[in-house]
Amino acid sequence: MQENMIYFDNAATSWPKPEHVYKAAENYLRSICANPGRSGHTRTIFAERLLYETRERAASFLGVGEKPERIIFTLNATDSLNMAIKGVLEPGDHVIYTSMEHNSVLRPLGSLKRNGVITTTMVWCEPSGCLDLQRIKNALRPHTKLIICTHASNVTGAVLPVEEISRLARENGILFLLDAAQTAGSIPVDLQKIKPHLAAFTGHKSLLGPPGVGLLYVHDGVKIKPWREGGTGSNSEKDRQPELMPEYLEAGTMNTPGLAGLNEGLKFIEKTSISSITEYEQSLTAKLRGGLGEIRRVKVFDAGTKQGSVGVVSFTIEGIDSGELGFVLEQSFGILCRTGLHCAPYAHQTIGTFPQGTVRFSLGYFNKEKEIKHALEAIKKIVSSLP
Ligand SMILES: Cc1ncc(COP(=O)(O)O)c(C=O)c1O
Repeated sequence: MQENMIYFDNAATSWPKPEHVYKAAENYLRSICANPGRSGHTRTIFAERLLYETRERAASFLGVGEKPERIIFTLNATDSLNMAIKGVLEPGDHVIYTSMEHNSVLRPLGSLKRNGVITTTMVWCEPSGCLDLQRIKNALRPHTKLIICTHASNVTGAVLPVEEISRLARENGILFLLDAAQTAGSIPVDLQKIKPHLAAFTGHKSLLGPPGVGLLYVHDGVKIKPWREGGTGSNSEKDRQPELMPEYLEAGTMNTPGLAGLNEGLKFIEKTSISSITEYEQSLTAKLRGGLGEIRRVKVFDAGTKQGSVGVVSFTIEGIDSGELGFVLEQSFGILCRTGLHCAPYAHQTIGTFPQGTVRFSLGYFNKEKEIKHALEAIKKIVSSLP
């Protein structure tokens, strides 16, 4: 990528990564590259230690440090969500989810529903992302097994009331699955506080790791079927998946170079501190949101929930299609962003931008204030050039 490009697509995947992330993945491939849990030689033991360290670091970062075995390594948030959804649901179950969910929730639910396995109810959020809990209460059925909610919308950045939803689920003996793809590494995610039964994370967004790694948290006592079975290097005499966590849900060779990178992403966040990251990203986001709001013809979509928001800002400009705007932003101003529906069609219906979508600027810890200024100037120029 050219030096002078501005990367505003961190909600899709973060870039750049901390220097140690690149180095750890490369060093692992060049000097270790053994299969953890499989052989007994020195390099295998090194690989096992690395996985253990990464698992412990992730668990403690998420507030469940005493239970590292409940953190499962996956491919990404989509993988984690599929494992959770398909692992806990049984024929006849009913599921409640919100209109801000990503296709990685909507599609697995859609296929189970089309195949006659489950029934579902979607609860609509307000355009600001606010969610009236009464809507969830009204959707409860005697056979409701699971409630799914994203922690923050990947379209507007609004943080949803997940603690309240989790409490409601527990009071009603229902499982709660949290999708923390857009929050972990950007704002604090404390699983002891939110208390979900299951939580999905991705390694390549604000956790600053490489693509191909994700996490699934499974609370003690949650009954879940493995949807991937196979070699774990343990109990090899049996044709049955070992029941011990994390092997129970972790068959097959891991993305170890990716996990070596994720370990360094987590170390970077630890060293910088999540509160500094949150504060910095939120101040940049406020400048971007405020600046866009002052430009005529620009409509910035609200993320005004009382829980706050993450660094995701969606907007449209009257008189220019969002896709075309994204093209002009890259070609004429070197700004890389994402346009369209962002894999969240009902979120766009919620904010009234379906089917044309919006332009989304998503910020990360490595963005700079001067990039915000440049982007605001670019938008002003585009607006003034419109007929
Ligand atoms: C809210 C949300 N959930 C899930 C996902 C899927 O994440 P991944 O691409 O890591 O599978 C995304 C990705 O953009 C997302 O924004």
